[in-house]
Amino acid sequence: SLPSKVKIVEVGPRDGLQNEKETISAEVKIELVDRLTDAGFVNIEAASFVSPKWVPQMATSTEVMDRIRRKPGVVYSALTPNMKGFEAALAAKADEVVIFGAASEAFSQRNINCSIAESIERFRDVAQAAKQHNIRLRGSISCSFGCPYQGEVPADSVADVVRRLRELGCDEIDIADTIGVGTPRKVQAVMERVAKEFPIERLSGHFHDTYGQATANIYASLEVGISIFHSSVAGLGGCPYAKGATGNVSTEDVLFLLNGLGIDTGIDLDKVVDAGQFISQHLGRKAASRTGNAIAAK
Ligand code: HMG
Ligand code: MG
Repeated sequence: SLPSKVKIVEVGPRDGLQNEKETISAEVKIELVDRLTDAGFVNIEAASFVSPKWVPQMATSTEVMDRIRRKPGVVYSALTPNMKGFEAALAAKADEVVIFGAASEAFSQRNINCSIAESIERFRDVAQAAKQHNIRLRGSISCSFGCPYQGEVPADSVADVVRRLRELGCDEIDIADTIGVGTPRKVQAVMERVAKEFPIERLSGHFHDTYGQATANIYASLEVGISIFHSSVAGLGGCPYAKGATGNVSTEDVLFLLNGLGIDTGIDLDKVVDAGQFISQHLGRKAASRTGNAIAAK
């Protein structure tokens, strides 16, 4: 049977916006996060403390974290690839920091400029500091279902990184389909393999919708017991280091699916649709969400 409750991590303000070419003002980002808070998410990825030379759009992260209207109990997360990022996240009062690696060596080099083994060493300091300060620690694994440079990625490679992130003390681990090439049976095989290394209730599915498989993959993940999913309002996004990668699965589509299955998320779909229309208007384009556009057109 499927889980009766699901946690959605809204990643639009980070994964969704990081790849936008035009600079988006902090005001707009803050209003987006505030609208998402109001919609009922318990976890919002709001910032990324990475090199502004690598990802210029995230340079406003300190200001955003400083000025969002925080709701008690909501976890506002930030990406932190190294200690410099961690110090910034700590100063900005992030509730959770995210160390992000990959299951593919080639992608690790392109994305964070080091090997998988080196990344784990960098993460060790971040992990220790997070524990010291009582900040939640999440680990993310890119290219868990395929890599734009290397192609196939064996499930054992993903499991190996899961094991190392578990050893660092991660509270939650994301199995990410960076380029959206996963399909349901493959996704189930990887999820079942990694669940041997880490409690399944703390594993999440992070699906990009490049090939239109994301909602199918979420359903497949639910079938094997995954109950945390990442999604992006209006289907925003794409990864700067994965050419042609499109956005995360749209939150509106995921909520329509879960609502139809009678699975509780605690999120108000209409408010998410409004937030999606808000940010899409600012970006000057139609939302990349089937559900969002269908509801908005009513
Ligand atoms: P590096 O060049 O190897 O690092 O970059 P470095 O330590 O040699 O530092 C180089 C310069 O960057 C120095 O500045 C540092 O101060 C600065 P300079 O002396 O040249 O002026 N620097 C920083 N500045 C601000 N904040 C920091 C920071 N660290 C160093 N934290 C590094 C290594 C990881 C920093 C770099 O490669 C980087 O920032 N990469 C960005 C990667 C990224 O953000 N990718 C997108 C997010 S991941 C993603 O989207 C995937 C995910 O969604 C899951 C999925 O879908 O797959 C999570
Ligand atoms: Mg992503």
